[in-house]
Amino acid sequence: MPDALLTEETVSAAVDAAIAAIDAAGDTAALKSARIAHTGEASALARLNATIRDLPPADKPLAGKLVGQARGRVNAAIAARESVLAQVERAALLQAERVDLTAAPLRYRAGARHPLTLVRETVEDVFIAMGWEIAEGPELEHEWFNFDALNIDPDHPARSPQDTLFVEPIGAHLVMRTQTSPVQVRSLIERGAPLYVLGPGRVYRTDEIDATHLPVFNQFEGIAIDRGLTMAHLRGTLEHLARRMFGDAARIRLRPNFFPFTEPSAEMDVWHPSAKGGARWIEWGGCGMVHPNVLRAAGLDPQEFQGFAFGLGIERTLQFAEGLSDMRDMIEGDVRFAAQWGLVTR
Ligand code: DAH
Repeated sequence: MPDALLTEETVSAAVDAAIAAIDAAGDTAALKSARIAHTGEASALARLNATIRDLPPADKPLAGKLVGQARGRVNAAIAARESVLAQVERAALLQAERVDLTAAPLRYRAGARHPLTLVRETVEDVFIAMGWEIAEGPELEHEWFNFDALNIDPDHPARSPQDTLFVEPIGAHLVMRTQTSPVQVRSLIERGAPLYVLGPGRVYRTDEIDATHLPVFNQFEGIAIDRGLTMAHLRGTLEHLARRMFGDAARIRLRPNFFPFTEPSAEMDVWHPSAKGGARWIEWGGCGMVHPNVLRAAGLDPQEFQGFAFGLGIERTLQFAEGLSDMRDMIEGDVRFAAQWGLVTR
């Protein structure tokens, strides 16, 4: 082939042809062919370049510059195209190797039962084993069951809106129950005496939430009514429960207290032999002999039937039994908290 004539036109025609071929390259293999064809030894630019050596010396610098710039443009076009193709090819590879993270996994993580449920069921089992029944009352409760039937005065401070959540319309006399004690009266009315009932459930107060208080928490209420029950039966029953919850070395002690629905009334402490930080007494709940007015409210004759009652907090029981510092962990719903108890079924 005769040497081409080196002019601006021939150089720019060679560049245009090169760039058209580069842009048309659909993959890196095609780009490689275009590069060889348009920058290789047999390319138009190489041949034009070869003519420089035959030019008069005065024309060489300009001709060299012309071809040099042309090569620069072609090489830049190749580099740009290379990076576009690399991106396209990488995207195609990623698409081909795509993993669907939303696909159903082959293995499921085992869930865990909430420790509050475990405590509640353990306590229920202790009483069921003694022949007691389980009873539940409504959380939206009539004021009469929550207060009046329990011998709680109309002006008792617990009945103020500072302590109790009253539900509108106020005239309906409905409250979110502040204690499980209304289950005492409901059970007596529904089932009569003799009666041995454990009433677990949720209660509501206007308390601020902190490490040892929740505005919604769980209690269990116990009531035993029969002929000839005494405080010794109360003590024996609660000590048995204490041992089941806190170990065989646990004991209880009763300190005089006042509750409107029991007479005499006591605060119950439990000796926790393996308490975090060392064995010690822990305030566990309230109890006492059921007040004659409560028996009368349920239609019973206090001369014939007597008995005892007690109320304990389930969160508090869990907190002390397991040495937990913050009750709020119990209600946050973080499965890692519950998972610490594993998949205990009972
Ligand atoms: N209802 C009481 C409370 O929520 C606890 C309680 C105390 C229950 C004495 C009882 C009892 O049955 O006899 O603080």
